[in-house]
Amino acid sequence: MEKGERLDKNENKNNCSLRNGLIPNSNYQNHYLSREKGDGPFVLTHEEQALKASAATSDHDENVDSSEEEPQHEIVEFFEETPLWVAILTYLGYAILILFGHFRDVLRNWKLEKAPVAAEPNKEGWVPLYQSFESFYTRNLYMRIRDCWNRPICSVPGAEFNLMDRETPDHGWTFKFTGGTTKAMNMGSYNYLGFAQTEGLCADAAVEATHKYGCGMCSSRHELGNMDIHTELEELLANFLGVEDCMTFGMGFATNSMNIPIFVNKGCLVLSDELNHASLVLGARLSGATIKVFKHGDVADLEQKLRDAVIYGQARTHRPYRKILILVEGIYSMEGSIVMLPEVIALKKKYKAYLFLDEAHSIGALGPNGRGVVDYFGCDPKDVDILMGTFTKSFGAAGGYIAGTKTLVDYVRHRSHSACYATSMPAPVAQQIITSTKIIMGLDGTDDGSKRRGQLAWNCRYFRRRLHEMGFIIFGNKDSPVVPVLLYCPAKIAAFSRECLQRGLATVVVGFPATPIIESRARFCLSASHTKEMIDKALAIIDEVGDRLSLKYSSMPVPQFSEKDEDFKKR
Ligand SMILES: Cc1ncc(COP(=O)(O)O)c(C=O)c1O
Repeated sequence: MEKGERLDKNENKNNCSLRNGLIPNSNYQNHYLSREKGDGPFVLTHEEQALKASAATSDHDENVDSSEEEPQHEIVEFFEETPLWVAILTYLGYAILILFGHFRDVLRNWKLEKAPVAAEPNKEGWVPLYQSFESFYTRNLYMRIRDCWNRPICSVPGAEFNLMDRETPDHGWTFKFTGGTTKAMNMGSYNYLGFAQTEGLCADAAVEATHKYGCGMCSSRHELGNMDIHTELEELLANFLGVEDCMTFGMGFATNSMNIPIFVNKGCLVLSDELNHASLVLGARLSGATIKVFKHGDVADLEQKLRDAVIYGQARTHRPYRKILILVEGIYSMEGSIVMLPEVIALKKKYKAYLFLDEAHSIGALGPNGRGVVDYFGCDPKDVDILMGTFTKSFGAAGGYIAGTKTLVDYVRHRSHSACYATSMPAPVAQQIITSTKIIMGLDGTDDGSKRRGQLAWNCRYFRRRLHEMGFIIFGNKDSPVVPVLLYCPAKIAAFSRECLQRGLATVVVGFPATPIIESRARFCLSASHTKEMIDKALAIIDEVGDRLSLKYSSMPVPQFSEKDEDFKKR
């Protein structure tokens, strides 16, 4: 079969399926679109993966390592389509809320509505600053359920935490603390390996570092904020990641937004996954490069965009792009999906593009050695041009890193705005990362790191499988510690959050504009610090709330993977 022919077919398939939300990953679509919707999980067997890998790379075999042709993992990802009746009810729910919103706006104009809202001062001759759909949405929809977000906590965000009780006398406009606290199970923090602790090796070492260096650096890396502890951290991380060098920054968000502009600028092309994090999007926008967005996890769409970029070049002039940079994440935190790294690497080699991989959610949490998605797929870290990650998740700390070749990191050290204009990472934070990385690598002389990874991997499989059995629609990869449970109807977003909290379970609920308007969801984050008893308790709560709110929409057969399967045992 001709390559062009294969691509055209993929394209048609994508058009008809992708935004239906059936399986936003073309890799699986290629194999399963002929199936009935809701026919089961989307699993690529090893043979199918090998077949795909060889098809994807057949034209440019000379560029591709053999490791990419033999994927290491059975890929199981779930993106069950929204049932039609649920979609209709959800839209109906929004229609009613919007109608009521307009009705309340009319009452506000007549001064009959008493609930306070943000109103612009009526300045004659000035254009309004805030008028948009977002403010209508905030005023009439979000305000009613504001108590479900920004809940202040007053303890370490470990497996359990304390929430500060508050009440609102004016329908969510203001909150008052009552002075009480509520202890709840924490399934919302990104504490994947359980290093958010107030005691233990990490906390002790961080306290010691505070005594030695203090809390603040009071200068940037280019000036007097470059300490021995930073050098120690960077050498350790380069060793952990399997690359030549690494540079760290005080903030993960700024690691992306401030460093992408040093790699690309006008005349370059950024190809960005449509669900990339805001920090990547901001970095790409600040760079001044042309940005094109490809469908989430859709390798065929990425290839089409790469091919168009190479053939047609820049708009109007048709000059070749000076550089093409692909931006992807390891684990997507709203979908729980994992990037198809071997295929993306094959494409970037084929089209001579550069690859920037954000491992914020995957570093530490994925792979037999905790080295992220690169490790998970058994890829060579040298095949990723720019490795980025953050310390706010698996390391229980703060900050981010850029890693790769020495030349790359030297360039970052000299050119990065974060290195030049932002204060460097505080020493206790650097020490927390050093100690947790040593535990992950087993350099502390114990098996604590591998136990944490094992517990997390087990928790992910167990939690996901039980939710499937209960009949919830959940998204994402079976190995992802982020587990989105679909809620759909707007009224159920707040109801789910409040009902779970009343029963002692705290989690994050997410709706528009962070998700497509009908795909509101609860996002559970698993941690190595969750014991089986805790997970069972959480599952019992979710089960009860799910029945109460009629959330068990799935019509898919229960998938076959379990916490005991062969693949898991290899970890
Ligand atoms: C993919 C991704 N990149 C970057 C960041 C920003 O990192 P930080 O929160 O450490 O500033 C996040 C934050 O959640 C993220 O999810």
